[in-house]
Amino acid sequence: MSAAFDLVIRGGTVATASDTFLADVGIRDGRIVQIGETLPAGAEEIDARGRFVLPGGIDSHVHLSQPSGEGIVMADDFESGTRSALFGGNTTVLPFCLQEKGQSLREALTAYHALAEGNCYTDHSFHMIISDPTASVLGQELPALVADGYTSFKVFMTYEGLRLNDAQILETMDVARRTGALVMVHCENEDAIRYLIGRHEADGDVAPRAHATTRPIVVEREATHRALSLAEVVDVPVVIVHVSNGPAIDEIRAARARGRKVIGETCPQYLMLTADDLEGMDWEGAKFVCSPPPRDAASQEDCWRGLETGVFDIFSSDHCPFRYDDPAGKLNPKGKMSFRHIPNGIPGVETRLPILFSEGVMKGRIDLSRFVALTATNHAKVYGLERKGRVAVGMDADIAIWDPEARRTIRHADLHDGADYSPYEGIEIQGWPTTVVLGGKVMVQDGELTGTKGDGRYRARALPKV
Ligand code: URP
Ligand code: ZN
Ligand code: ZN
Repeated sequence: MSAAFDLVIRGGTVATASDTFLADVGIRDGRIVQIGETLPAGAEEIDARGRFVLPGGIDSHVHLSQPSGEGIVMADDFESGTRSALFGGNTTVLPFCLQEKGQSLREALTAYHALAEGNCYTDHSFHMIISDPTASVLGQELPALVADGYTSFKVFMTYEGLRLNDAQILETMDVARRTGALVMVHCENEDAIRYLIGRHEADGDVAPRAHATTRPIVVEREATHRALSLAEVVDVPVVIVHVSNGPAIDEIRAARARGRKVIGETCPQYLMLTADDLEGMDWEGAKFVCSPPPRDAASQEDCWRGLETGVFDIFSSDHCPFRYDDPAGKLNPKGKMSFRHIPNGIPGVETRLPILFSEGVMKGRIDLSRFVALTATNHAKVYGLERKGRVAVGMDADIAIWDPEARRTIRHADLHDGADYSPYEGIEIQGWPTTVVLGGKVMVQDGELTGTKGDGRYRARALPKV
């Protein structure tokens, strides 16, 4: 007689976004089919006693294989990036698909699918980055893509070559209004940044630290206010990504108080790093150059408060990895001359969950259910991943089993990404995802890779539930 289940995860503490309870989880044909006490035997069994059984993490903000300027190469492709994500307890990632100027969205997507197909260790889907919102892109292409399951897109208020002006942002938001898709906004005022860069360079102040001083809080606050106002004019919900500080948080709170639907996102760098890290020895500060930049201790506290009180719905990595000691990375020839040419972004897809678990759950700042909501359940709701983000009957069997007693010191040598450093090197962590299951298949077992490249698949998405 065949077993009742393909896999049973037995005796663990299951957590959802609302409850925590002891149970067995029965899995068949890639889905969770039963949750209860003393389930019958599975063909395969995992003893999860003393461990937490959580939905696999969904990291809805990662950059993989993204073109990043002449001579610059991102440190992770889909293989290394999703392998790293998997070891960090994630089962789904949402990378960006960058539309280059003059490029059709379909063309961009075809290229990204070709890079991802057969190479992923986690499930994945794509957000579009709209850099060239022509009439045909907004009138035909983007609505057709939304109908095909690409139900979110990002616009930038900064970065030359990427940023859109207010009129273009309004037009792009209008596509969201017409289709029900979701707009994500990177909020920093490019003109203000350029003005400040000019002043710093005129003074010969070109070291990495100047990256933070040329992107001060006011630059993010103003752009956040403007993005929220534009969304209000169009009357659409909006995601404010990678929020770094209290005044930007206040803008989100104020918009919500006016009845606006705003999804707030923050990231580990705004909890764990400060602008002082950009001082570094010599040019070491380049390792921490990302945008918005990390701020100060008060901003870290504000971001924690935002996580605790519900200002933030989602906690993502903004994994955007470049090697440090590499002419195609942070220390490219121009980057060694001025902070302006240091590629923006830091690695973090593997450390996102352990950092929030250790600093948040283990230190009593958030409970396990809030952790689950911030790292999986809310991402699934916001981005239309209908069968993901919950340990519940009918859901994909995407599960991370956590050992709350595991103690590790973050060392890049132990991580699985393609960068040559971690910005979180040396941080002590309590709690680590030791076993990871994707669609019922054990991908990582007690810290060892058991899955195969290509096990992770593309998932079309429904419209957001916001
Ligand atoms: O510095 C960052 N965050 N780079 C990634 C691109 C982005 O803006 O998300
Ligand atoms: Zn951004
Ligand atoms: Zn990003």
